[in-house]
Amino acid sequence: MIYKALISTFFVFGWSAVVSAETSPAPQQAAIAMPDEFSAKVAKQVLLEGGNAVDAAVAAGFVLAVTYPEAGNLGGGGFMTLFNTASAGEPASASFLDYREKAPKAAYKNLYLDQQGEVIPYRSLVGYQASGVPGTVKGFWEAHQKFGSKPWASLLQPAITYAEQGFIVSEHLQKTAEWYRHWIANKSPVELNFNAHFSGLKAGTLFKQTALAKTLKRIALQGEKDFYQGKTATLLVDEMQAHDGLITLQDLADYQAIWRDPIVGEWLGRQIVSAPPPSSGGIAIVQLLKMKALLQPALESALQKAKQTGLPERAVKAHFYAELEKRVYADRAFYLGDSDFVRVPIEVLISDDYLLKRSQSVSLEAITESESMQPGKIESPETTHFSIIDSAGNAVSNTYTLNMPFGSGVVISGAGFLMNDEMDDFSTKPGVANVFGVVGGKANEISPEKRMLSSMSPTLVLKDGEIEMVVGTPGGSTIITSVFQALVNVVEEGMTAQQAVDAPRVHHQLLPKNLIAYNPELSDAVKDELSLMGYQLKKNNYMGDVQLILKQAGQVSAASDVRGRGISEVFTVP
Ligand code: GLY
Repeated sequence: MIYKALISTFFVFGWSAVVSAETSPAPQQAAIAMPDEFSAKVAKQVLLEGGNAVDAAVAAGFVLAVTYPEAGNLGGGGFMTLFNTASAGEPASASFLDYREKAPKAAYKNLYLDQQGEVIPYRSLVGYQASGVPGTVKGFWEAHQKFGSKPWASLLQPAITYAEQGFIVSEHLQKTAEWYRHWIANKSPVELNFNAHFSGLKAGTLFKQTALAKTLKRIALQGEKDFYQGKTATLLVDEMQAHDGLITLQDLADYQAIWRDPIVGEWLGRQIVSAPPPSSGGIAIVQLLKMKALLQPALESALQKAKQTGLPERAVKAHFYAELEKRVYADRAFYLGDSDFVRVPIEVLISDDYLLKRSQSVSLEAITESESMQPGKIESPETTHFSIIDSAGNAVSNTYTLNMPFGSGVVISGAGFLMNDEMDDFSTKPGVANVFGVVGGKANEISPEKRMLSSMSPTLVLKDGEIEMVVGTPGGSTIITSVFQALVNVVEEGMTAQQAVDAPRVHHQLLPKNLIAYNPELSDAVKDELSLMGYQLKKNNYMGDVQLILKQAGQVSAASDVRGRGISEVFTVP
């Protein structure tokens, strides 16, 4: 059924081009762009041993749950966008797997409000009530059932080995853990066990996780059943119930990962394939790209003028992007939520007619007043993404998360994994600022079993029926603007993969008012000009960790963001 929907979507957008992939010779090169050295090593090994992109993704996803504990996870959720080349009479197709967390059945609209109707600080972020029902294990299982070629248990073995024998902790991981330890102090009404489990995260030392190894072994042997109905489920629910947590055995047993139609948008002769609701990412990225294309003549004349007057081009672009982003994040806050619960007008929001109207008020000269628009919402920056292409041209773009680094700070005793604090991605009180100082809309209010709105945007770019790019990043609400800029950097600015991910990025999201966040590399001249225009500026040392694979004119390249600890590589599979 998913495929029927997909094929008709592609027909609208030029499916015939995709079908032509059937006759092209199979490429031999594979590529990975991974967030750490351990996942990179394992993904490469699986591909060299004849595994496909999904096999590599499953193996790497479990490894990251061990070696990248701030975001890699068993206790969180995510999204996977996939591309399968034509084979055995089946046409090439793209698909999307939603394994986002769900609100527990016991959750309700005012869960995080006190008796006066005020938001209880940090309740949706830290501790036992902050977690949604995890989706990761079910998601990897579902992807493997449909597309995997190697035995499930063999794909978990590398993660088991890293958990049992340990891995060397990086400085980056130690620093993130120190920051988190400090951040959660005194924020939970009950004592958290994060420190008891993760005090050993010291740079340059071996870190072993025996309980986690046992959990991974059970999942290797029994599959997702262990996590959702077996011993791991019991351990998880015991931990929750001992501390007023919400998740029950029924919540776990009822959890499903869902195949959904991806968002597909036409842009400069390409198809952008990205995440549909409950992510806002695909809609927002297509809106940004299409509005940019519609306004290209106006942008070019503003750039021409800037050249004549000596203004930095980058400042003109940063203002232009901020104008587009204001509109996109206003739509996000108002219209977007879990489409199983609220009607999201997807077709309208990405239609040319709507975006033409929406872009008419964009000014290249001055800042549009924020007050006239619905506000957006900031999310936590810690998530992780990886991109994989196998030697047959199949691709996986996967983003998954615990929300905050290390999630809720709750470790499941006896099972050794961290729980997410994804409940904070709901609007805890529509119209009122949350802990990050921003507000969300009614479409994203809490309901039992609803998925919380996300910005995660695992994205594929198809050209002439083949993969041109596999891209994504962590960064909460900055994910959308980071992916947008990476796409523009490659396609319009002609940058290499590495240049495209390393280039300084800017981000605006309607609120805080007229605030542009920037990577530290942004030049002083650009910052000065933006200040003169009336923007507030905020340096963001870690705005995204883009993992990009690019295939142009038969050449494959891969790049990991200079800001993270990622590794990328292109290699030939014999
Ligand atoms: N928790 C970050 C996101 O889902 O966008």
